[in-house]
Amino acid sequence: MRNKIVAGNWKMNLLLAEAIDLGRKIKEAASEIEGVQVLLFPSSIYLKSLAEIAIPVGAQNFYPAENGAFTGEISISQLKDCGATHVLIGHSERRAIFGEQADFLKQKVDSAIAHKITPVFCCGEPLEIREAGTELVYVKRQLEESLFHILPENMQNCIVAYEPVWAIGTGKTATVAQAEEMHRSIRNWITEKYTETIAQNCSIIYGGSCNVSNAQELFSSPNVDGGLIGGASLQAESFIKIAQSF
Ligand code: 13P
Repeated sequence: MRNKIVAGNWKMNLLLAEAIDLGRKIKEAASEIEGVQVLLFPSSIYLKSLAEIAIPVGAQNFYPAENGAFTGEISISQLKDCGATHVLIGHSERRAIFGEQADFLKQKVDSAIAHKITPVFCCGEPLEIREAGTELVYVKRQLEESLFHILPENMQNCIVAYEPVWAIGTGKTATVAQAEEMHRSIRNWITEKYTETIAQNCSIIYGGSCNVSNAQELFSSPNVDGGLIGGASLQAESFIKIAQSF
């Protein structure tokens, strides 16, 4: 049985006191929600403070080297040391704004696995690809280029996040049919590459303008195992309602 997951990607938002306050409220509510893994991705400088609240936290970014002369970067060991258990890899903002390419994402996946940190591998097509009708080919390629080289025992511990770029921060959500088609395809590709059991155990979550009004419908879809929430994770009330949507 795969985990149901609701994760908040806070991106570059909140000050420390706000992050702690929000984390506390979410922690309190999350303990009442059965069977859903609630995860937060705050700014890395707040990881330790949030981990101290005993809420599971992950990092939004890291540099895939052990240590050394990489001014301004943070290693996975440092994140782990601050309490991170998960990392986002391949988020479209990192791909588009910071130019992270398939090969680099592959290195990040390897680095996370080597340190026993769970990768949340993000994939998703831009609008022009969706309009051209080639989104399945596009997303399959993202997975093949940066994720599907890992060993089966590691794949079963990965989380995949499907985040269509045209739905991120736009208020435009994928329809349930669009999300289900992509999630089902991702699961089929994992089956082809690995095994049916691994595919069935792998959580595939949806991100892109997921909110209180659409979460329930999206999460009721058979292959949607939860959400990666941006904007709506910045308020306790909406994020908690989303986590209660299963
Ligand atoms: P929004 O929920 O704000 O669209 O962001 C989604 C996202 O990018 C989560 O990683």
